[in-house]
Amino acid sequence: MSAPKLNIVPFVSVDHMMKLVLAVGIERFVTELADYIEDDFRRWELFDKTPRVASHSHDGVIELMPTSDGKLYGFKYVNGHPKNTRAGLQTVTAFGVLADVGSGYPMLLTEMTILTALRTAAMSAVAAKYLAPQGARTMALIGNGAQAEFQAVAFKAIVGIDRLRLYDVDSSASRKCAKNLAGMGFDIVICASGQEAVEGADIITTVTADKQYATILTDNMVGPGVHINAIGGDCPGKTELHRDILLRSDIFVEFPPQTRIEGEIQQLAADHPVTELWQVIAGHAPGRSGERQITLFDSVGFAIEDFSALRYVRDKLRDTGLYEELDLLADPDEPRDLFGMLLRAEAAQAKAVVG
Ligand SMILES: NC(=O)c1ccc[n+]([C@@H]2O[C@H](COP(=O)([O-])OP(=O)(O)OC[C@H]3O[C@@H](n4cnc5c(N)ncnc54)[C@H](O)[C@@H]3O)[C@@H](O)[C@H]2O)c1
Repeated sequence: MSAPKLNIVPFVSVDHMMKLVLAVGIERFVTELADYIEDDFRRWELFDKTPRVASHSHDGVIELMPTSDGKLYGFKYVNGHPKNTRAGLQTVTAFGVLADVGSGYPMLLTEMTILTALRTAAMSAVAAKYLAPQGARTMALIGNGAQAEFQAVAFKAIVGIDRLRLYDVDSSASRKCAKNLAGMGFDIVICASGQEAVEGADIITTVTADKQYATILTDNMVGPGVHINAIGGDCPGKTELHRDILLRSDIFVEFPPQTRIEGEIQQLAADHPVTELWQVIAGHAPGRSGERQITLFDSVGFAIEDFSALRYVRDKLRDTGLYEELDLLADPDEPRDLFGMLLRAEAAQAKAVVG
């Protein structure tokens, strides 16, 4: 067998990603992806880490999220534009690259819009595994847009959630969510308010999109013992929880330098104590430590989670062949003769025209 051509890069389109997820099975996909995330969080100290590079505009944000473990390098391009849905576009779209640190050559280019929804859900469920109350079965899911069903499926597969209480300001989003999740083993109630949704919930997930300081949860809505999975506050000036909830909670974050800029904790003093989730996963810090404790995963989405997702997809491609070969990198026979390669292409074109 001939050696794989390094200039040909596997490309996973949206169509191939959907086929891959369905071939693996959605629950199994998030569960295996969660294992990759946990593995990478256990070796957290090895990684290059930086807050993501964000380009803000009036309507949204475009971000680059790079990291490396010294052998592989990954980055994701992702946007966040809450107004997009009104124009029939996604709020969040993404694509990403995995590369070989040794040669610097890309090894994978993939869509990451679907993959981001899966990795965000897997990350949330991993956090809840360590932070949610024992035996949690009921989750309030506030914000029933593109991410919502993925969160539900991951919490079922990894945490054991089988009762959902849905709320969205737009009731058609809740109906869409309930319809998509029908027959997947959930007992689903659509609620008329956030207050109604949180009644009896062990876990509250907020996954709304609004480019402002919103108050999806007020202090009186959060009782003792609850775990909050706050997903939608992920930009400067874009939060979901009333500050008083943060003051009553034990707060767990991905990478503090990024979360202090983007997360719910942007509402708190810069030295407010938080626990890094990797410390909990690695066994260096406690997760949930009491029945009445309010735990908060202040999720913003960090590059290492995308790196784990890229690694997972690359490993899955070997067995499935669900990719195209992309002619992405110039590959002259003599590496320094890049210009000559161009001239030879010109000569070949001229010959083809004459011929
Ligand atoms: N933390 C992460 O890792 C991560 C990853 C992906 C997306 N996100 C964030 O998650 C959020 C949701 O993303 P999406 O792709 O599902 O967006 P989306 O636009 O598809 O859905 C958002 C939903 O929230 C609803 N909503 C808005 N304001 C509300 C309110 N006050 N109360 C109840 N519902 C309300 C909207 O009607 C909509 O149905 C976004 O803010 C996005 O930036 C975070």
